[in-house]
Amino acid sequence: MNTPICDFVTEYAVSGKTRLHMPGHKGAPQHGLEPFDITEIEGAGYLYSDEGIIAESEKNAAMLFGTGRTLYSTEGSTLSIKAMLAIALTSLKKENERPLVLASRNAHKAFLDAACLLDFDAGFIMQSTPSPSLCRAFITADDVRAAIERADRMPTAIYVTSPDYMGNILDLPAIKAVCREYGLPLLVDNAHGAYLKFLKKSLHPIDLGADMCCDSAHKTLPVYTGGGYLHISRNADKRFFDEPKGLMSIFASTSPSYLLMQSLDNCNRLLSGEFPTLLEAAVPAVQRLKQDIADMGFSIMGAEPMKITILPLSFGLTGFELAGHLRENDVECEYADSFCTVLMLSPYNTERDYERLLFALSLLSPKEPIVKLPLTLPAPVYRQSIRSAVFSRARQINVSDALGRVCARTAASCQPSIPIAVPGEEITAQVIEVLKAYGIEKVQVI
Ligand SMILES: Cc1ncc(COP(=O)(O)O)c(C=O)c1O
Repeated sequence: MNTPICDFVTEYAVSGKTRLHMPGHKGAPQHGLEPFDITEIEGAGYLYSDEGIIAESEKNAAMLFGTGRTLYSTEGSTLSIKAMLAIALTSLKKENERPLVLASRNAHKAFLDAACLLDFDAGFIMQSTPSPSLCRAFITADDVRAAIERADRMPTAIYVTSPDYMGNILDLPAIKAVCREYGLPLLVDNAHGAYLKFLKKSLHPIDLGADMCCDSAHKTLPVYTGGGYLHISRNADKRFFDEPKGLMSIFASTSPSYLLMQSLDNCNRLLSGEFPTLLEAAVPAVQRLKQDIADMGFSIMGAEPMKITILPLSFGLTGFELAGHLRENDVECEYADSFCTVLMLSPYNTERDYERLLFALSLLSPKEPIVKLPLTLPAPVYRQSIRSAVFSRARQINVSDALGRVCARTAASCQPSIPIAVPGEEITAQVIEVLKAYGIEKVQVI
């Protein structure tokens, strides 16, 4: 597969031309990648244009992902999520009605930022089964149907996260069937699942019925941090294709990184070459690794093939303690909280990485299990719109003093950036408990 962005930039880098344009480093190596870091010079195209080498590279990505259209993001899924919602809401706008999007409660912070910027109401699809983590929402097709039936007006779209941060995958075909019944588009936060397209049998949301989804290419593919996609399905509403780039650009920098675009361009070459074969070998290897870890006595959560979420409480450790032990043994995890430790693998992990992880775990012996009740987010108490709350004058107070106050700014721990206190909602005793459990001590209230 051709790599038009990489080819253009490499030719320019070796040309030795005098750079009387941005950026200020002028291509002189300081950090290392400067010769390849350019701006929109003649021939380099523009990310938010439908023509030129970037658009050509995006077409390659669309072909690889089997989409109707794929847009690059140089600001991760955070940008793609805002663009995806702007596209759906603009295309399906109803006169004289405030738009409503029904979402799973484990929506990333970017979803709430979009609700604020686009001024839509977010209704949360409450799950029928309690979750052991903020990041997990066991949303079923029935939960989606119940939420649609309960809503005070027909939503504009259904928005879910799959896979979630812990590697749990929702039954998207079943959820899509409900969406189809009500004529609603299914929007999916697939930040953690770009690679799912390249499994022997694709588990990518676009192949499972999503109308649009975001992928953080950088999370699971060989792409620099910040590189992402917004995919629009071939089966999506035709209006979604009208001006997706224009809508994405509203939220984006006018100086998108050419280093990231080269990385996405080069990734097309890998996806059409070695990546699927490497992935095919890595999936059973990670499966064996999961089994080895389970055989040591650890509980493991999630069906996503390349993620290992260890639940170490039954082994007598918190997720933080396990992560600390791994760190002492030269293994850095993706994420940890009291309940779990999340490990992300890719085909570019080596045999030595596997051995190191297993060796580090083998140094531990089981202790008295720790009993901790899972933290559940309560059904929200809505007091005002997200936008009016976010743009209100706010005051920071101690979480302990926040009972009954209205949240003004999203309170989420980083990572996983899943909102605990949502702007416009009342801060209840249960919300306070969850905020404290995630180490959040201050909150902004109206
Ligand atoms: C579920 C989920 N959605 C969206 C995002 C945002 O992705 P990005 O960091 O690519 O902007 C993240 C980031 O961790 C995430 O975990």
